[in-house]
Amino acid sequence: MGRTAIHRLRLSTGLILLAYVTTHLVNHALGNVSLRAMADGLIVQRWIWQGVIGTAALYGALIVHFLLGLRALYERRDYGWRLSEALQLVLGLLVPFLLMNHIFVTRIALTQFDILKGYPQELTSFWVKSPHLGVQQVAVLIVAWAHACLGVYFWLRIKPVFTRIAPWLTAVAVLLPVLALLGFFEAGRQVLDLVHDPAWRAANLAAWQTGTAAQNAILLTERNAAILVVGGMIIATLLLRILRDLREARGGSIRVTYPQGRSVRVPIGFSVLQASLAARVPHASLCGGRARCSTCRIRVIAGSGRIPAPSAGERAVLERVGAGPLVRLACQLRPEGDIRVVPLLPPHYSFEMMRRRSWPQSGEERFVVVLVADMRDSSRLAETRLPFDTVFVIDRFVNAVSTAVTEAGGRPNQFTGDGLLAVFGLNAPPAEACRQAVLAVALIGRSVAALNQVLAAEMGMPIRFGLGVHGSNAVVGEVGLADTRVFTTLGDAANGASRMERLCKDYGCEAVISDAVCEASGLALDALPRHEVALRGRAAALVIRIVDRTEDMASLLALPPSRRLHRAPS
Ligand code: FES
Repeated sequence: MGRTAIHRLRLSTGLILLAYVTTHLVNHALGNVSLRAMADGLIVQRWIWQGVIGTAALYGALIVHFLLGLRALYERRDYGWRLSEALQLVLGLLVPFLLMNHIFVTRIALTQFDILKGYPQELTSFWVKSPHLGVQQVAVLIVAWAHACLGVYFWLRIKPVFTRIAPWLTAVAVLLPVLALLGFFEAGRQVLDLVHDPAWRAANLAAWQTGTAAQNAILLTERNAAILVVGGMIIATLLLRILRDLREARGGSIRVTYPQGRSVRVPIGFSVLQASLAARVPHASLCGGRARCSTCRIRVIAGSGRIPAPSAGERAVLERVGAGPLVRLACQLRPEGDIRVVPLLPPHYSFEMMRRRSWPQSGEERFVVVLVADMRDSSRLAETRLPFDTVFVIDRFVNAVSTAVTEAGGRPNQFTGDGLLAVFGLNAPPAEACRQAVLAVALIGRSVAALNQVLAAEMGMPIRFGLGVHGSNAVVGEVGLADTRVFTTLGDAANGASRMERLCKDYGCEAVISDAVCEASGLALDALPRHEVALRGRAAALVIRIVDRTEDMASLLALPPSRRLHRAPS
């Protein structure tokens, strides 16, 4: 089973257990209303969790989740733990020990002896007969809830939605157990009073409800055996870890080399991320090696042994970030020979940076399409208008182009006074990037035409502009100081697009698009005339397409009419 499937299994079983714990806590919280409300809530709980499906889901999830926890304990190297991850694992491993008594005196008692216990019986046990079991019950609630909350945090922290929902989740994470504990104490207080009432005792504490001494002795023996089995499994896992470490130490080693000549020798079987952690080489790894965040990605510069192909899970993550062929996830790549790598993201990369940004932070080579837009006559505008008016018009133009680019799926990147450079394909495959760029040309035409209508009375003449569009492999990434880093695109795409924008003047047109982009877009663009041009600095001629009026592109592409993009200036 691949790592992605295991991750999904762990997540789905964890969510089932979270649902169970949540309904349990809600039921306890009803104790703040009355003992009767708790008993009524229990009817709903039983309906959910004591039917065939509920029982199978609950106990299946409990067993599988525990086994996956043991697997994580086996797999994880000592130096790879963050404190929160270690805490989650320890809390998770504590749950079976704390929960075992409750399982045997309720669910197993029901299955084995038909003893149907509810809140009166359990609360009498916790508050009257065996207070230490009450303390244990409170402990298991807190431990299981904390383990689940950490799991949810690890799951959601890399999602863009996390910042928005985090305050709500925190409120639920704190309030629910507090209400549940208050309900537990309030109901316990009521039971302490009721237990002196002979009629209540007769109605609630009969042998068929609490079990006979013989039945309880059997359940106790079984519980102890189950605790021994669970404890034995944990000890066996720890022993297997020791055996693995010994085996790896004897199985040969490889050398992993980083930039600036730093290198580390690690046993064969280590991932590159494990090698980094072992050697204390700073290495971003936000998801803790779970093949989810992609922040550990590296470029493989050279390798002397077999470099295993990426698994389906790793491939999916790499495709999602549009990684090039030599890029791998350090947490997944286990080289079989010496290897030289370059980590691609800065080691201080944070969750906040990951949620906010969707482009590569360090240099990555990928196919992008660049669109360069320039407003014509801005110098003349500055000579004939007040500075405020000039800035106002240029601002409206840049806004119109940026809005159209964003609407098409691109990213406005650099603003150059009266123009801008936009990039397509940072999160899309090449054909989609080309399609988005062509679509942007049409939307810019429509958008500036709408702007011209709005400004017609003031300007006296329409805004004129030129667009150049070209695509190629380019190096994309951030440059600059830590707090003033800017995203940039280096390569033929930006240079070509800039030269094509200037060609608009020669052809008296509004846009020049490279033929390769038009072809790759898959759009019906045969009506655009082709030309072959020689661009300065290029050995081979380049085929381009001419767009006289970008406004006409909308009908050429059969775009549906869209809402007006501009309001009249106020
Ligand atoms: S550490 Fe997150 S994908 Fe490797």
